[in-house]
Amino acid sequence: MRKPMIAGNWKMNKTLTEAVELASLVKRGAYGAENVEIMVAPPFVVLADVSEVLAGSGVITSAQNCHWEKEGAYTGEVSADMIKSVGATHVIIGHSERRKYFAETDDTVRRKVHLALASGLVPVVCVGETLEEREAEKTLEVVSSQVKGALSGIEEENASGIVLAYEPVWAIGTGKTASPEQAQEVHAMIRKLLSELYSSQLAGSMRILYGGSMNPGNCEALLSEEDIDGGLIGGASLKAESFVDIIKKAHKVYS
Ligand code: PGA
Repeated sequence: MRKPMIAGNWKMNKTLTEAVELASLVKRGAYGAENVEIMVAPPFVVLADVSEVLAGSGVITSAQNCHWEKEGAYTGEVSADMIKSVGATHVIIGHSERRKYFAETDDTVRRKVHLALASGLVPVVCVGETLEEREAEKTLEVVSSQVKGALSGIEEENASGIVLAYEPVWAIGTGKTASPEQAQEVHAMIRKLLSELYSSQLAGSMRILYGGSMNPGNCEALLSEEDIDGGLIGGASLKAESFVDIIKKAHKVYS
C-alpha cells in the first residue's frame, strides 16, 4: 500500500563532476530494485545535470530546499518552479540543518509545503527532536507540533502526496542511530496523529521515512519496523557503494 522510499540527501557535497559520477553509479546500482522508490537530493547547482543523468532510470531527483514565494526579489533563493524546470519532482523541506542554521520555522516550513504542492512538487517534510527535547521527554510533543505546523491548512486531497521524514536531530551525522524501537514509537505516533488530522486512509497511505545515521549495517532492522517506510540518508548516500548496499537491502526487506 505504501511504496517505500530510499532517499539520499547529499547536503553541501559534490562538485559537478563528482555529482554526475555518483549519479551514474547510483543509476547502475539501483537497477532492478523495484520494491523501493529511489531518490537523490543533490545541491541546486548540479540538480539539472543529475536529473539528466538519471532521466528514464526510475531514480528521481529532489531539491534540498525551496523558497515559499513563487518568484521575486529574493537574492540567492531558488523557487519551486525552477526546481521543476530542471527535472526534479521532489523537494526536502524543513530539514533540521535548515531549521538550525537558516532560521527555518514551522511557519516557513508550512509556507514552503503549500508552495511546493501548488507548484506540483512532492514535499519531503522533515521533523525531529533535539537531544535536549528527548531527554526532557518532549519527543512526541515536539514532533507532533512540527507535523501539525507543516500540514496546517492543507486539505486531505493535497496532503496525500506528502512524504514525511522523522529525523531525530541527535542522530543526524552523529553515527548515533535511533533504535528501531525508538524510531517505531515516533513513527506510530505520527501515523496516529495523521489519522486524527485527516483519516485512517490517509494515515495508512502516507510514507514516513526514518533519517539519522542510517547505514548498510543498521538499515534492515530499522526498515523492518511496521511504520518505517524507508530512509532519508545523508552520510551513507555520498558513496555509491554504501547507498546501493542500502537500496539492495531495502529491496529485500520489502520483498
Ligand atoms: P545522516 O543524515 O544520514 O548523515 O545522519 C541524514 C539527514 O540529515 O537527512
